[in-house]
Amino acid sequence: MKNKGTTTYHAVRWREPIIYELGRKGRRGFMIPKVEPEIKAVARDAVLSIPDKMRRKTPPEWPELSEPEVVRHFIRLSQQTFGVDSGINVGVGTCTMKYNPKVNEALARSPGITGLHPLQDESTVQGILEIIYKLQEWLCEISGMDKFSFQPRGGAHAVFTNACIIRAFHKYNGELDQRDEIITTVVSHPCNAAAPASAGFKIVTLYPDEKTGCINVEALKAAVSKRTAGMMITNPYDTGIFDSNIIEYINIIHEAGGLVAIDQANANCLLSRVRIGDVGADLCHFNLHKSFSTPHGSCGPGSAPVGVKEEFAKFLPIPTVEFDGSKYYLDYDRPHSIGKVAEFHGVAQNVVRAYAWILTMGAEGLRETSEVAVLNNNYLLKKLLEIRGVSLPWGKSRPFRMQDVRLSLEKLKEETGIRIDDVNRRIVDFGVQRCFTSHEPWIVPEPFTPEPTESASKEDLDRFAEIFSRISTEAYTNPEKIKNAPHNCAISRVNLSPSSDPKKWAMTWRAYIKKHG
Ligand SMILES: Cc1ncc(COP(=O)(O)O)c(C=O)c1O
Repeated sequence: MKNKGTTTYHAVRWREPIIYELGRKGRRGFMIPKVEPEIKAVARDAVLSIPDKMRRKTPPEWPELSEPEVVRHFIRLSQQTFGVDSGINVGVGTCTMKYNPKVNEALARSPGITGLHPLQDESTVQGILEIIYKLQEWLCEISGMDKFSFQPRGGAHAVFTNACIIRAFHKYNGELDQRDEIITTVVSHPCNAAAPASAGFKIVTLYPDEKTGCINVEALKAAVSKRTAGMMITNPYDTGIFDSNIIEYINIIHEAGGLVAIDQANANCLLSRVRIGDVGADLCHFNLHKSFSTPHGSCGPGSAPVGVKEEFAKFLPIPTVEFDGSKYYLDYDRPHSIGKVAEFHGVAQNVVRAYAWILTMGAEGLRETSEVAVLNNNYLLKKLLEIRGVSLPWGKSRPFRMQDVRLSLEKLKEETGIRIDDVNRRIVDFGVQRCFTSHEPWIVPEPFTPEPTESASKEDLDRFAEIFSRISTEAYTNPEKIKNAPHNCAISRVNLSPSSDPKKWAMTWRAYIKKHG
C-alpha cells in the first residue's frame, strides 16, 4: 500500500475566543490560603510594605476564570497548533530540528535539576558544575578548541560574544582603534553580520562565486587590510555547501592580523569528522539547541556555548567553571574577561540535555549522526530535484550538500505563478511543517531549505517528497487550490494586508480595545 503508516490530516478547529473574552468577574481557579496570624505578626502585611504611591488603587483587569476553563482554553489552543511531535518536520533548514529524546527531558526536569538555585553555595551544586565542566571538555574534544563558556542563550548571542572577544583581544593589543572591520559572507547566518555590527564593528560582506557557491579567495584578499579585526563565517553555509577553502581564508585573515570565528551552528554534518580548532580557527560556537538535540529557544532558552583557543580563554565571560582536582568551583578572578553576557551559566537544563545526549550517543554515535543526517539530506535532495519546477543553485559544481540544502522554485513561479509562500501555505494542509525559505537577502530566488536531520525515517522523506510533488502538479493544473490554501488547518488564509498598516496594529489586548473599541 502506498504511504503505509502515514495519515491524512485535518487540524482541530475550535472557535476559541481569546482569554480576555472568557470567564466572569470574581471567578477563581485557585484560592490562596489566608496568612496565619502568627506569620502576619512577624512578617506584617506584605502589601503595606509597598509605598502608598506605588500601590494599585484598583485591581488589574485580568481575565478571571476557573481552573477547568483555563485548562480547556490552553488545551484547545495547543490542539490548533502544529507540534514538533505531531507531524513531519524536515523542512526547516538551518534549524536542525532533530528529535529531542524524552529521556533527556525527564533528566532535565528531575527535581535534582529543577530545584537548583544559581545562588547556592558551590559546595551544594557540585553535580551541575561537574556536568557543565564535563560537557565543556567534550565540546573541546569535538571542536579542537581549548575552553568553552555556556553563558550565551542562542546562536546570535554567541556570535555577539565572540565579536566582543575579538574586540577585547585587539584592545588588549592596543589595536582596537585601527581594527574596526569584520568580514563575513552573505551565505553565512545573518547574525554573523548583525552581531559584530552591534558590538561596534563595520561589516564587509562577501558574495559567493556564481559557479561554486563559495566566496572567492581573491575577493577575500582584496577585502583584508590593516582595519581587519576578524572574519565571522558560517561553515557549512546555510546553502548546505561546505567551503573547503576555509584553511586558506584563516591563513589570509591571520596574516592580516585578524581572528577567525566560525559559526558551527550547522555542525550536525561535521560531528566527529572536522575539528575546526585543528584547522586554525580561533573561536567558534555550537547551538546545543540544534546539533546537540536540545529544544529550540526561538530567542528564548536556547544554549549556544562559545569555544576559544587557549590564547583567548582569558577573555571568556565570567565566571568560568573550573576543577581543582577534588572539587568544582567558579572562577571570577579573570581581569581580562569581557564580563557577563547573561546571568549565571546560561540555560542549565539545556546543558543537562546535551550532556545526556552525547553520553547516550558516544563518539561513534556522533559520527553516525552526521553520516545519517548527510545521507538523509542528499536522499531528499535527489527526490525533490525530480519534481517539476524545483532546481538547485550551484548544482553543477555542488550536486551534493551537507546538513541542509537551499533549493529554488523560480521555475515553478515562472511557469505557474505559484511562489514559495503559496507552497508553504499549502504544505501545512498535509500535517507537515512549512519550509524555511532563506534569510534576507534572498540570493536564491524563491528559496526553500529542507534539513531532514538524522531523525527522519525514509518513509518521512518519501512522504515529504510525495507531498511536494503533489503540490507541484496542483500548481500546473489547479493553482487556485494553492492560492486559497490552507484548507485543512485551524485557520484558513490570513489577510496580511493590515500588517503593513501601523494604524491597525495592536500588540496587546488593551491596545486592540483602544483602537477597535
Ligand atoms: C548557522 C546559524 N548560526 C546562528 C544561528 C542563530 O541561532 P539562534 O537562533 O539560536 O540565535 C542560526 C539559527 O538558525 C544558524 O542557523
